[in-house]
Amino acid sequence: MMAASAPGKLILFGEHAVVFGEPALSTAINLRAEVYARPHTEWLVDGASLEESRFRYVKAAVAKAKPDGPLWIEIRSMVPSGAGLGSSAAVTVATLGALHGREGSIEALAIAREAFEVEHEVQGRASPIDTSTASAGGGILVLRQPRDGLLWSIERDKRKWFVHRTALPPLDLVIGNTGISAATGPLVAKVKDRVDRDPRAAEAVRQIGEITLDGVRALQRKDLVAAGKLMDRNHTILTDLGVGHPSLDRLVEAARPSSYGAKLTGAGGGGSIVALTDRPSVTAEAIRAAGGKAFIVQSDSLGVAKLG
Ligand code: PMV
Repeated sequence: MMAASAPGKLILFGEHAVVFGEPALSTAINLRAEVYARPHTEWLVDGASLEESRFRYVKAAVAKAKPDGPLWIEIRSMVPSGAGLGSSAAVTVATLGALHGREGSIEALAIAREAFEVEHEVQGRASPIDTSTASAGGGILVLRQPRDGLLWSIERDKRKWFVHRTALPPLDLVIGNTGISAATGPLVAKVKDRVDRDPRAAEAVRQIGEITLDGVRALQRKDLVAAGKLMDRNHTILTDLGVGHPSLDRLVEAARPSSYGAKLTGAGGGGSIVALTDRPSVTAEAIRAAGGKAFIVQSDSLGVAKLG
């Protein structure tokens, strides 16, 4: 049997803007996806056909890893899907980890590159932030230029992202899931369309890049008050870009009185918010009272890992 796991992620600053090359900050979280694969007479995922559209990331990962014969693949994931927490990246990276794990040790860089290609193919457009975070674990800062802490660079269509390891202080984070599932691809396409047509949208993307760099500096000097205010601003700009949702606003409003700040995380349009707080159980209760599902999470330094 071959098996591997990979973490989900939270984007703290910079989602959507990162697709245009702006900086973004994410952290892997302690919700993981596990993928198991055994040789079998035909291709199956969770007992169903690999051809089913819900398995398109797994199918694309299989096409990259080119295993010798058919496999029965099982997915066990703690990362809710369509919630902005990188579930597709975690499953893609864990699948590649399981399939490549046969050949010996798992090489995070090779998996990060292949997993990015998979996401790009399936979604039509993507940045490498989700797949690199699921591969490397820990805090990840994506920048236009290399600097200290560079892990790897990934390029596609004349755009190049430099993926860095970044040290974050221990953070208490609460996820508020709206329960509304929204596919990433159409939201990314919607932002591209706006940026192409409206200079104000292009300016918003640039501002998100600045907020991200200010946010990284605030977190590194442990100024959670400043970081929280920047999260609030990031949320407003994302909403102006058209990826908000009334239920996201409701959860953000519910979380803020007990938090430093709160914003949507991931693709938006539904999905989840993230709140930075030092009273996680109070914030989680407030999110639940406003109709959301709440999870208290921590950063996780473990990236893709072989199981067993
Ligand atoms: O919703 P998720 O977890 O797929 O996050 C998407 C992050 C985006 O910046 C919107 C897209 C990307 O590929 O970076």
